[in-house]
Amino acid sequence: MEHADLLVLGAGAAGLFCAGSAMAQGRRVVVLDHASNPAEKIRISGGGRCNFTNLATTRERFLSGNPRFAASALSGYRPEDFVGLVDQAGIAWHEKTQGQLFCDGRATQITDMLIERMQGAELRLSTSVSGLRHAGDRFCLETGSGAMTAARVVIATGGKSIPKMGATGLAYEIAQDFGLRCVEPRPGLVPMTFAEQDLALCRPLAGVSLEARIRHRGGDFQDALLFTHRGLSGPVILQISSFWQPGEVLEIDLLPGIAIGEELKKRRAQAGRIRIAAALGEWLPQRLADAIATEAGLAERRLADQSNPTLEALAERINRWRLRPVGTEGYRTAEVTLGGVDTRDLDARTLQARKVPGLHFIGECVDVTGWLGGYNFQWAWASGHAAGIAA
Ligand code: FDA
Repeated sequence: MEHADLLVLGAGAAGLFCAGSAMAQGRRVVVLDHASNPAEKIRISGGGRCNFTNLATTRERFLSGNPRFAASALSGYRPEDFVGLVDQAGIAWHEKTQGQLFCDGRATQITDMLIERMQGAELRLSTSVSGLRHAGDRFCLETGSGAMTAARVVIATGGKSIPKMGATGLAYEIAQDFGLRCVEPRPGLVPMTFAEQDLALCRPLAGVSLEARIRHRGGDFQDALLFTHRGLSGPVILQISSFWQPGEVLEIDLLPGIAIGEELKKRRAQAGRIRIAAALGEWLPQRLADAIATEAGLAERRLADQSNPTLEALAERINRWRLRPVGTEGYRTAEVTLGGVDTRDLDARTLQARKVPGLHFIGECVDVTGWLGGYNFQWAWASGHAAGIAA
């Protein structure tokens, strides 16, 4: 039987980072993953440039059954700490909008840096793991290369998003085997799907994008909205998908900050001969303006001929466009998994299971899920670090 001080299950963002932090404590650390390459999600993240952190990280940027839970780990390892590592490794980066930091070059530079940082730890890829159990005061794990024991085990096998890339629900199964509670996992940061009548409007507009605002269940986002042949996508939809529950209606403001009803009335007084579609085109992309005017049966009508109630109804359609998604694209395309190991059963400082000393859960498998914009990697680093120095 092989022995280690610490076994880390999952060589993704959180697992690799955890192993690096644990190495600083001089332990024998083994990281196991069934995939043939480490951190595949880092490779594809941020369109291949990895949005590796967000300078605006606070616990308010995360969804969790306990909104305070993430604060401890996040304050123990901050975005600036990770930027320090990135700078030390000579990786060039830039800030996009809203504090989002991306690599100038390939995302795999981040993985290379993490592997370098965990030097001395053993990385075992293409290794299946199963059957974690107590064996006296240690843990025993069955792996594809034989049974192993360790005093401490960190579960970093992520959530269920993108099964094609090797995602499994292993972390939830282990949590339940050891008597921990789980918040029902569901896809987050995911494109939504729409009924045929909404698709009939969206499909011909594929490629049109504009800034929109959606407020829903405490989420309030203003960002790009993209019409696609499958409905609506873009950052504002991905963000709100994490807040939306099946059956609920979304209200989309296609002209945030502009009361279009009042603007149209002013325009009517100045240039009443203008067609409705042309008037709307002064604020909206023309293809969308045409579609909305046509849908309202007003495409060829002049502004001067429209009553206040007609303009107000049009404004309602633009500032408060109500539609009911039929669902989401699910784990197939979801960037993250919401829910997971219940934070009530974990210690916020060490990510250790309260009832199972020596067993830690980190990263996406925990019921802490960030907004779009680098927050999820920051959670992977911070929770990995907290467990790595404690384990
Ligand atoms: P992660 O999923 O990274 O790693 C889990 C590891 O466990 C994997 O290597 C997997 O193979 C292994 N594993 C799973 N089941 C196993 C089993 N049964 N046996 C053995 N091994 C197993 N976030 C962000 O902050 N900025 C960004 O730019 C992006 N971009 C982005 C793009 C896309 C397309 C996706 C899908 C996701 C993102 N994300 C992101 C989210 C981010 O990738 C995610 O939150 C982190 O990778 C989570 O890190 P973890 O280490 O917890 O899980």
